[in-house]
Amino acid sequence: MRLAKYLAQSGVAARRAAEVMIKEGRVTVNGLIELRPQTLVTDEDVITVDGERIRQQEVKLYFLLNKPSGYLSTVRDTHNRATVLDLLKDKQDRLYPVGRLDLNTSGVLLLTNDGELAHRLTHPRYGIKKIYRAGIKGIPGKKALDQLLNGVEIDGDRCIPDDVILLKTDQEKMHSQLQITLTEGRKRQVRKILAAINHPVYNLERISFAGLTADSLSKGAYRSLSEIEVKRLYSLVNL
Ligand code: URA
Repeated sequence: MRLAKYLAQSGVAARRAAEVMIKEGRVTVNGLIELRPQTLVTDEDVITVDGERIRQQEVKLYFLLNKPSGYLSTVRDTHNRATVLDLLKDKQDRLYPVGRLDLNTSGVLLLTNDGELAHRLTHPRYGIKKIYRAGIKGIPGKKALDQLLNGVEIDGDRCIPDDVILLKTDQEKMHSQLQITLTEGRKRQVRKILAAINHPVYNLERISFAGLTADSLSKGAYRSLSEIEVKRLYSLVNL
């Protein structure tokens, strides 16, 4: 990239002003003053303006994917299995999923290259709300639902959902649909707590993450977050 453009994209100054700075001898590339705005530079070059090191600002991207089941929530799989990034077509640059959904869990998954936001959204301190809809075997009675609400021990830790709603029951097929809200994010948490009360999950979908839903998206489709949505996420995690 041309030096003047590099400075402009780094937020130093507008392109024209950056050209002037370069011609005034205020810019160095790898320790030498560079007077030509058209000189080509890369991220590997050490560039300073008035003695201060400049780094290229990465454009921040935020996507909401309606993850289908059968895709891994990892950036790359050693066994070459399909990952959520395969669904994002040409937008794969340095994006990674915010937290994880199991291979066979579908629903709302955020992807971004904003490391600090991703870190905070998955940190237990911020108690970000995740709502799941689970198809479970059997029909839980009051006792099982109370057991869930009072907390179930998994892997030695008590897990207390924020809310549990029995949405539907099917006496004939002997299965039910449950909505469960969590503010923790442990591995396979929903499957584990429901297995622990003898109502194993046969279908799991995350219908909301931090208040974002995939309402207008079919499975496998994604969209960019709006500026307002990103701002809201920032405020949820005190950024
Ligand atoms: N809990 C699970 O069991 N699986 C998920 O994918 C997410 C939460």
